[in-house]
Amino acid sequence: MSDIRQRKHDHVELVLNDPQVDRHASGLDAIRLTHRALPELDYDEVDTCCTLLEHTLSFPFLISSMTGGEGAALHRINRHLAEAAEACGVAMAVGSQRIMLEHPETAESFALRRYAPSVPLIANLGAVQLNEGVTLAQIEDLIDVLDADALYLHLNPLQEVIQPGGDRNFAGLAERIAEVADGIDVPVILKEVGCGLSAEDIELGLRAGVDHFDLAGRGGTSWSRIEALRADDPLGFEFQDWGLTLVESLRQAAPYRNRATFIASGGVRSGVDMVKCVIMGASACGVAGPLLRAATESTEAVIEVIEHFRRAYHTAQFLLGAATFEALFDNRQLLLQQSRF
Ligand SMILES: Cc1cc2nc3c(=O)[nH]c(=O)nc-3n(C[C@H](O)[C@H](O)[C@H](O)COP(=O)(O)O)c2cc1C
Repeated sequence: MSDIRQRKHDHVELVLNDPQVDRHASGLDAIRLTHRALPELDYDEVDTCCTLLEHTLSFPFLISSMTGGEGAALHRINRHLAEAAEACGVAMAVGSQRIMLEHPETAESFALRRYAPSVPLIANLGAVQLNEGVTLAQIEDLIDVLDADALYLHLNPLQEVIQPGGDRNFAGLAERIAEVADGIDVPVILKEVGCGLSAEDIELGLRAGVDHFDLAGRGGTSWSRIEALRADDPLGFEFQDWGLTLVESLRQAAPYRNRATFIASGGVRSGVDMVKCVIMGASACGVAGPLLRAATESTEAVIEVIEHFRRAYHTAQFLLGAATFEALFDNRQLLLQQSRF
């Protein structure tokens, strides 16, 4: 198997087998919420629905980009995730589709609309590929194969530095991103992969015509560590905790709340974490690592994990006396004083 095809399998194996790949340091544990002993709500009437990419989600959950590629194992993971997304009424993104450009036969593993006819699906490509000659027509093919509602362009400069043979020319990328945002019919979402977006990144994105951002902060899955393990490169261990935590990135995003939609990810590990992110201005929350083992097993196993997130999210919303998503969203009053920003 060629390097790019094998790489996708390595990533899955390392996330499944190295417990330290998950850094457990999103900063969300330090965020404290208020509590309503008299919420003045009926638990059964609490409405957890929200809107993302012009779709209604049953609660603000997004299956973050993970995989797709060669072989039955990766196709099965994506099928389980897509079927679970449909059953639960949540959004789903696929892993990088660069492999499709070199190995068109892998397109099958990304053709997920048949399993998830009604929920938002998001295509994915590394933004740095725009400096490597990828054309708009090729990008349109990536979107079409899953009939996607949006395109993630992921920004992963640290991963590319540690990855042997990584693509490291990030110069002039904002202009390339602007060309894509202008040239395709669905929204571009700029996304990190676990080091967070800064205010400067968001500014550049906005100027490039992008108004959706996935913060993908530090504290969950560490790509520097994954590539360090693959390449046996100590530099990757040195940088395994580099970047802005999800909470730090949410703070950097705060001034841009009325100009853009933000997705919170990177170490979101519970429904309570999700509620905290929505209170800090996220329109949805992405989860990757915690779904992977279940995704190797079955659709039902993935549904079980998502339903657990949902119960905790619903319970926390009830205990905060918030009847709707709107009552939570960007409502700093629900943070205890010391957690406010
Ligand atoms: C197995 C695996 C593969 C991933 N592959 C991609 C990818 O191809 N493209 C991408 O943008 N992010 C990728 N990610 C990053 C996630 O989408 C997410 O941003 C990151 O893992 C942080 O979320 P987490 O802490 O919940 O895992 C991958 C994550 C995992 C666990």
